[in-house]
Amino acid sequence: MTSSTTAPSTTAPKFEYDILIIGSGAAGLTLALRTADFARVAVLSKGDLNQGATFYAQGGIAAVLDEADSINSHIEDTLSTGVGLCHADMVEYIVENSAKAVSWLVDQGVPFTKKSASSDAPVTANADPVFRDLSSLHLTQEGGHSHRRIIHASDATGKAVFETLQARAQAHPGIDLIEGCTAVDLVTQAQQGAPAPVCVGAYVLNQQTGAVQLIKSKFVALATGGASKAYLYTTNPDGASGDGIAMAWRAGCRVANMEFNQFHPTCLFHPHAKSFLISEALRGEGARLELPDGSRFMQNFDSREELAPRDIVARAIDHEMKRLGCDCIYLNISHKPAEFVRKHFPTIHSRCLEFGIDITTQRIPVVPAAHYTCGGIMVNQRSETDIANLYAIGETSFTGLHGANRMASNSLLECFVLAFAAAEDIQSKIGRTAQSSHIEPWDESRVTDSEDEVLVSHNWDELRRCMWDFVGIVRNNERLRRAEKRIELLQQEVQDYYIKHRVTNDMLELRNLVLVSGLIISCALQRKESRGLHFTLDYPQLDDEAQDTILEPK
Ligand code: FAD
Ligand code: SIN
Repeated sequence: MTSSTTAPSTTAPKFEYDILIIGSGAAGLTLALRTADFARVAVLSKGDLNQGATFYAQGGIAAVLDEADSINSHIEDTLSTGVGLCHADMVEYIVENSAKAVSWLVDQGVPFTKKSASSDAPVTANADPVFRDLSSLHLTQEGGHSHRRIIHASDATGKAVFETLQARAQAHPGIDLIEGCTAVDLVTQAQQGAPAPVCVGAYVLNQQTGAVQLIKSKFVALATGGASKAYLYTTNPDGASGDGIAMAWRAGCRVANMEFNQFHPTCLFHPHAKSFLISEALRGEGARLELPDGSRFMQNFDSREELAPRDIVARAIDHEMKRLGCDCIYLNISHKPAEFVRKHFPTIHSRCLEFGIDITTQRIPVVPAAHYTCGGIMVNQRSETDIANLYAIGETSFTGLHGANRMASNSLLECFVLAFAAAEDIQSKIGRTAQSSHIEPWDESRVTDSEDEVLVSHNWDELRRCMWDFVGIVRNNERLRRAEKRIELLQQEVQDYYIKHRVTNDMLELRNLVLVSGLIISCALQRKESRGLHFTLDYPQLDDEAQDTILEPK
């Protein structure tokens, strides 16, 4: 459940824009900045602007910048991590544009960490934010990558990216940044001469007033992030409730590969630490995974050991935890010099200290947690969905880049490259696109205020526990069928509640999450093999042919 905690430092929504961007993370802000010179743009966030996953990203952004590295190598690593299911054309497109994306971010002023003059040790480039020489950027290492190719801003890359882009957007007269407004549903219309329905705006709940307002827009972009909040334990912020996927599905878009929910191997295990990630970059810099008795185990699962792709590492941890009946395993970087650890990982070091763990001398208790939604709204290389003038960018979309398992730090890269593509496409169409004139306002003549919020909060808990227990790292048919039944029941209850009551943010998130959970289960039941992140005991084999699971709304 998401909340807006600060008074809006931003503006109230107007009734009409050229481009309505739903989501203020890396994807949404990038699209806004790439279009605001030729269009009137609104960027919506249902919570505070920083409440997407972007702000919390740690490791960095994958890009080919080093002379020893190559585009082909990044492509091959991505394809191999995706276990035969990546769309090669999309992988090539995104990787080929990685240096362009980084260069743009550098131009915006993102303070990426630089190599120090004397050694490979990183220094933060705060004093000199705009530095164009990309070869001066420090590169770190993460799982699946055969080279050091992750640019980063210390261990808080997302915060640095978000704050830079937000400041740029705030300063741009063509962009309205709008907090505390939740998009409820898209508005589509059949238009003369258009083969598919056309998106003409969205209904938006203003959380302050409780009113649902129609915002008309020539173009709408969904940049709403992922759906990992479907799971009880997640690295994601509260708003990751799959709203974009649910809205697009209701409007008639296809979604694909929802069974591939990525579990990050190392989330801090502590009763008071809600969703704190311990970056894969620690393993990239030498941290080891250990069992409670101090022994290492990754060598029994993959020759790349701690730097195997995430599906393999998360499954290995799950296996060992179940075998030993332990609550967590441990990540240990204490063999590295304390100064090195503090310099590379200041955020993780200080956050762990708050919980009484000094990572320079102690092991970190960790568990896997739901982290990333590889599937989503189907889009093409211009980020177009099945509905005209509706785009999907970032984690909410399914581009084909990640296949059956996303490689570390490819997600932010995808946000930037596909936001650039959407911007170009919109620019090519905007001159011949008119605002729709007739749209019905939101009708709430037949609803009342809810007096029983427990119906929402109880179903939230039930949903997330069900998904964690039955649709987790290791699946089987019986668990999936149980989950299917329970989710169907929850969907009915939520729908009954929705049609009778005035909408609230919590209710909308539950409505979306229960729909998206159903899509995850449908996809999981359709895949009769084990591939990447989808591992089922009933079909442990890998099929010869790799196929996407595509769902089409009736
Ligand atoms: P988000 O940044 O999630 O933003 C979603 C936005 O949509 C928010 O503004 C939200 O308020 C808004 N929104 C949602 N629904 C609605 C609605 N109905 N109405 C209005 N607004 C709505 N990836 C990497 O490549 N490298 C990393 O190092 C990395 N580290 C990560 C660390 C953590 C802890 C997490 C959780 C993820 C990490 N990822 C990383 C993944 C990556 O951060 C995300 O995939 C990416 O930031 C998603 O960006 P986005 O713009 O698509 O969405
Ligand atoms: C991490 O820092 O481990 C997260 C990287 C990612 O999700 O790509």
